[in-house]
Amino acid sequence: MRTDTGEIIHLEDYRQTDFVLERVDLTFELDPTETKVEARLIFHRREDVASDVPLFLNGDDLKMTGLMLDQEEIAAADFDVAKHGLTIRDLPATAPFEITITTEINPQANTQLMGLYRTNNVYCTQCEAEGFRRITYFPDRPDVLAVYTVNIIADKETAPLLLSNGNYLGGASMGDGRHFAAWFDPHPKPSYLFALVAGDLGVIEDTFATLSGREVTLKIYVEHGKEARATYAMDALKRSMKWDEERFGREYDLDIFMIVAVSDFNMGAMENKGLNVFNDKYVLADPETATDADYANIEAIIAHEYFHNWTGNRITCRDWFQLCLKEGLTVYRDHEFSADQRSRAVKRIAEVRHLKAEQFPEDAGPLAHPVRPTKYREINNFYTTTVYEKGSEVTRMIATVLGADLFKRGMDLYFDRHDGQAVTIEDFVACFAETSGRDLAQFSLWYHQAGTPLVTAAAAYDAARQVLTLSLEQMVPPTPGQTAKEPMHIPLRIGLLLEDGSEVPVAAANGAEMTGDVLHLVERAQTVTFDNIASRPVVSFNRSFSAPINLQFEQSAADRALIARHETDLFARWQALNELAMQELVAAAKSARAGDRIDCDLTVIDALLTAAADDTLEPAFRAQVLALPGEADVAREIGTNNDPDAIHTGRQQIMAAIAEAGRDLFSTLVETMVATGSFSPDAASAGRRALRNSALSYLVYAENHPARAVDAFKAANNMTDLSQALSVLAHRFADAPETKEALADFKERFADNALVIDKWFSIQAAIPGAAALDRVKSLMADPLFTTSNPNRVRALVGTFAFANPTGFNRADGEGYRFLAQQILDIDPRNPQLAARILTSMRSWRSLETTRAEHARAALREIANGTKLSTDISDIVDRMLKA
Ligand code: TRP
Ligand code: ZN
Repeated sequence: MRTDTGEIIHLEDYRQTDFVLERVDLTFELDPTETKVEARLIFHRREDVASDVPLFLNGDDLKMTGLMLDQEEIAAADFDVAKHGLTIRDLPATAPFEITITTEINPQANTQLMGLYRTNNVYCTQCEAEGFRRITYFPDRPDVLAVYTVNIIADKETAPLLLSNGNYLGGASMGDGRHFAAWFDPHPKPSYLFALVAGDLGVIEDTFATLSGREVTLKIYVEHGKEARATYAMDALKRSMKWDEERFGREYDLDIFMIVAVSDFNMGAMENKGLNVFNDKYVLADPETATDADYANIEAIIAHEYFHNWTGNRITCRDWFQLCLKEGLTVYRDHEFSADQRSRAVKRIAEVRHLKAEQFPEDAGPLAHPVRPTKYREINNFYTTTVYEKGSEVTRMIATVLGADLFKRGMDLYFDRHDGQAVTIEDFVACFAETSGRDLAQFSLWYHQAGTPLVTAAAAYDAARQVLTLSLEQMVPPTPGQTAKEPMHIPLRIGLLLEDGSEVPVAAANGAEMTGDVLHLVERAQTVTFDNIASRPVVSFNRSFSAPINLQFEQSAADRALIARHETDLFARWQALNELAMQELVAAAKSARAGDRIDCDLTVIDALLTAAADDTLEPAFRAQVLALPGEADVAREIGTNNDPDAIHTGRQQIMAAIAEAGRDLFSTLVETMVATGSFSPDAASAGRRALRNSALSYLVYAENHPARAVDAFKAANNMTDLSQALSVLAHRFADAPETKEALADFKERFADNALVIDKWFSIQAAIPGAAALDRVKSLMADPLFTTSNPNRVRALVGTFAFANPTGFNRADGEGYRFLAQQILDIDPRNPQLAARILTSMRSWRSLETTRAEHARAALREIANGTKLSTDISDIVDRMLKA
C-alpha cells in the first residue's frame, strides 16, 4: 500500500515529459502469485531537453528483476530505484532507445484492486488513474500516448481466455500446458486505458453494423452459467452504439468491442480501449434478480463506458486535473442517452434528485472542490460527484447557453480538432467560444469556483403599468481555499403563467439577455422587467433545472400548486410539488424538535394527491411525485444544527398524513397499476411498478399492519416488487415475525446469488432507529458477509453510513465510532474503498453539537491511525480542517 507522504500535486506545475514514448511491447507470464512482466519501451529525448537529463518512470510496489538499455544490462551506477519510481541516467541524446524492464508481481495478494489482480480466479487489471505503475515502471500519466502490443502467456486449463486491448493478432499452444495470445491496439492510448483479462469465462456474442457499414464483433464475458443474464447489457450496448452515431456522429473504431464482468471491483466500470471491465452488478440482470433501478443503471453505465471511446479515449486528458473533461462530458452524454431511451422529464427528475442528494452536500461541506481542481494529494479521491455530476451539469449549461445547433457544432469541432490528443478544459471550452462567437470567460467560472450558487429572487407586479419586475441576486458561498467569489453566468430557464394556466411568452426582457426562455443572470444583482403582462403572473424558475443552484424565492402554496397543474415543463411541475413537500417536511422536523404538534397543510396534500391521481401523466412521473424528499434531503435544506431523529419523526408524520388522506387513491392504484403479460424492464412498465409500489407502501402505512406487504412479498414475480415488499416490511415492522420470516425466505432463495444477497444486506442496514448498529454488527458475523468483496462491504457498511440517518447518527456517537473502526480495518486492504465510505461523514459539521463532537472524535481516531493510506489521510485531514 502507498502510505501517505503528504505531497501535494499542483496544476500550475504541469510540464510535458522530457522523453517521448513511441511504442510499448508487453509480455505477461501469468501466475497467481508470481507473474512476470516484461516491458519494452521505445523512447526518444525531446529536442529541447539537455542530454544529461535522466528518464524518470513511475512505480508502486514493484519488484524489478531486470533492466536493459538496447538489450544490454544497465549498470547499477546508472539507475536508482526509489519507493515511487525508477530513474535512469546516461541515455542517448538524440537517437531512439529501447528500455526493457522485467518486474515480478503478485496478483493474488493485490487486495486494493489496482493494477493486476485476481477476482474469482480471473486475472484482471484496473489502471485508472495510477494503477499501471503497479504493473511495470512507466511514464504513468495521461498525456503519454503510445501504441501497445501485448503478449499473454498463461496456463491453458485455468485461463483458456486471454484478452487485451485492440485487435487479436494470434496465439498458440506452448506445449508445457501453457498457451499464448497476442493483441495489438493501433490507437495510441495512455496507460490508464490498458487492460488485460485472463481466465475461464462464458460469453455472449453479437454484431453491430456501423454507420459506414463495418461489422463490429461484440462480446460480453461473464462467469459460466450467467450468460443469459447479460442479454440486457448487450441490447443496451447496441442501442448506445447506434445513438452515438445518430446524436454525436461518433462511430466505433475497432473490429471488436468486449466487456468483461467481474465481481470484485472498486467502482462501477472502466472504459479500457476495446475491453471495458465492469462491476458485474452493472452487467447482470434478469427479472427474478434485478430491479428496475438495476436495469436502468446497467443501461446508463454500459452507455457511459461505451461513450468514453470518444470522450476520454480518442480525446483524453492532459493531466488528472482535467478529469471532468472526460467524466463530466461523458455523464452528460449518458444522461442524454437515457433521456432519449426513456422519459426525458422523469430522467431529469432522477438526475436532479441525485445531484442534490450527493453533489450539493459535497459542495457545501469540507470536501468541496472545483469541477476542475487545481491541487490534489490523492487523485483517487477526485472521482467525485462534483467532477462527474456537476461536470455534466456544466456541459448541459453550455448547451443551454449556446442552443442545440451551436452546441453540436462546438462538439464537432472538438472531435475534429483534438482527435488523438490529450487536452484541457480550456481547449474544450474554446471550441464552443469559437463556434458561437461568445466570450465564455465568465461562464468558465463554473469549472473553477466551488460551491453551489445561491440565487435569491423576488417578483413584483405593477398592475397599472402591466410590468413584472424580477429582482435577482446571486451569491457563491465560500469553500475550502476559496473565500471570495466572482459572480457567475447562470442560465435560468423561466416561465410566466397566468391564473388560468396559460403561458406568457418571455422572449424579451429589459435588464437581461434572453435566449428563448433562458434568462442570463450575469451580475451579482440584476433587475429584470417584462412589459405587457396583462395580469399577475406566477413565475416558474429554473425550468428543467437549467442551472445547478439553490433558489430562494418566496412563493405561496397556491402559486406552486398552479405550476404543478399547468407548467408545460414537466420537470418544473415536479419541482413545484417537491418544494411544497419540502416545506412541510422542514416545518415538521422543527415541530418535532420543539415537541410541538405536527400538521400537514391540506393544500399540499391535495396538490400531491391530485398529481398522483392524474391519468394524463405517465405513472413514472406520478411515482416521483409520491416519493417525498428523503431525510438527508431535509437535513440539507435545514443546513445547520441538524437533529436526524427529529427529521425522521417529522417525516413519518407527514407520510402518515398523506397515507391517510390518500387511502382511496392508493387502493385504486394498487388494483389498477398491475402488470399485464410477461415481465418487461422497459421504462413504461417500470413506471407502473414504481407507482404501484409507492401506493402500496403508503397503504401499509395507513393500515399500520404488515399483512398487505406480506401478500405482496408472496405474490411478487420480479425483484422490483419483491425487494420493495421486503423493504416495507423490514423498515416498518423490523421486529415482526412476518419480517423475520420474509428475510429468512429471501436469504435462502438467493443464497447463491451475490448481487441479490447484497440487497438482503442493504435493506437491513437501512432499517431506521438506534437498534440499527447492533443489527449491522450481527450481520457482519453472518457467514455470507465478507470484507474482501467491495459490493458486499458497500451493501452493509456503506448503506448504514450513507443511507440510515437515524441509525448512523445515533446520539451517543456509537455509529461514528463503528465507522472509524471499519475504516481503519478496510484501509490497509483497500484504501479506495475505505476512502469512498468515509465520505459518508462529509456533512458532519451540519449536525447539532453533541453529534458533531462525537463525529469529530471519530474522525480524530481515524487521523491518529498508524500507516494510513494517502487516500484516507487526504479525506480525513480535509474533513477535520477548520
Ligand atoms: N473511469 C471510470 C468511469 O467513470 C471510473 C474509474 C475511475 C474507475 N477510476 C477507477 C473504476 C478505479 C474502477 C477503479 O467510467
Ligand atoms: Zn466515466
